[in-house]
Amino acid sequence: MGWNSWDTFMSGISDKLLRQVADAMVTNGMRDAGYQYINIDDGWALPNRVNGHLEPDPAKFPGGFKPVTDYLHARGFKFGIYSDRGTKTCVSGAPGSYGHETIDANDFAAWGVDYLKYDNCNPAFLTSQEGDYRRMQEALMATGKPFVFSICAWEFKKWMPSIGNLWRTTDDITDNWNTIINNIDKNEKSANYAGPGRWNDPDMLVVGCFNVQDLQHNHLFDGNTDLVGNKGLTDDENIAHFSMWAMMAAPLIASNDVIRMPEKIREILTNQEVIAVDQDPLGIQGIKVWENGKGLFVYSKVLKGHDTRAIALFNRSESNAEIMAKWIDANIPDGKATVRDLWKHEDMGMFTNGYKAYVPSHGIVLLKVVSVID
Ligand code: GLA
Repeated sequence: MGWNSWDTFMSGISDKLLRQVADAMVTNGMRDAGYQYINIDDGWALPNRVNGHLEPDPAKFPGGFKPVTDYLHARGFKFGIYSDRGTKTCVSGAPGSYGHETIDANDFAAWGVDYLKYDNCNPAFLTSQEGDYRRMQEALMATGKPFVFSICAWEFKKWMPSIGNLWRTTDDITDNWNTIINNIDKNEKSANYAGPGRWNDPDMLVVGCFNVQDLQHNHLFDGNTDLVGNKGLTDDENIAHFSMWAMMAAPLIASNDVIRMPEKIREILTNQEVIAVDQDPLGIQGIKVWENGKGLFVYSKVLKGHDTRAIALFNRSESNAEIMAKWIDANIPDGKATVRDLWKHEDMGMFTNGYKAYVPSHGIVLLKVVSVID
């Protein structure tokens, strides 16, 4: 769990911003809710190497990274950085780590970096994708310092679980409902590969994001984030998005402006009962167990405990609807089970064979269900 700069700030990152983000995440409860990593993305490096080394842009990081990583570590955070397996990064065009894996991994370790997101743009001529990712994994391991290694290659390949701790299964997310749905469906294909320490990554959360990328493409974004939270997903969509990421045991990497976050967004991102579904120690990815062909879905995630499930009644359709979740579809024995609603924070009682709820369009009802049959 953590935060990533890209979807709100793009290349507008700095030492100052990271300190503000860290302070905000302490004050608003995100750190204590489990958001541990503060990750920068593309846009931190100078356009050319200096004596063979990647160099943090001094306009953004005047003292390099050490002062800011010390600041983050002193407050209980870890620090994530970004590079690319090719010759240049994706958007900023800074140098990639191809052919410089050892030098870069050693620098990252010396700077106090704990996490590397490794992108897939501009591969070197005739190189192998798997080989490039493996060389960086080995270089990170050779530093002797633990790193989380995040593969960002936009689709699942079978070699990824043996190299990364998480791997992107999808194209880039935006705060647009259709991307959320596409990413959920794509991320399900490799569900069996997820487990503790190795996760399918349907990309960062866009809960509470305002679509700066759209503004940027239209040359309207001037770095002013005052509008953050005014557009993007609706509350129901934000809740459904967050719930489904928890159901998929996905990394929960917020990417909104946590410094100027509306209270409703803060409540969504810090819902401990939903976070507990995501962080369940079994690490089993939830899957679709029922659909009616018209946009109504039931998902189930096996949780630790006797016949215990998180069950999501998910309405992707354009109208409000009732959805019935049957215990048998979630592989819980027919008969009685207790139901708790994880957004109402309420025990709903004992229900026989299933549970029916009204679900708004693009909304979700998320339950914890425990069978009471021995
Ligand atoms: C790619 C990645 C994104 C982001 C950008 C930065 O598109 O998939 O997540 O890191 O590059 O350039």
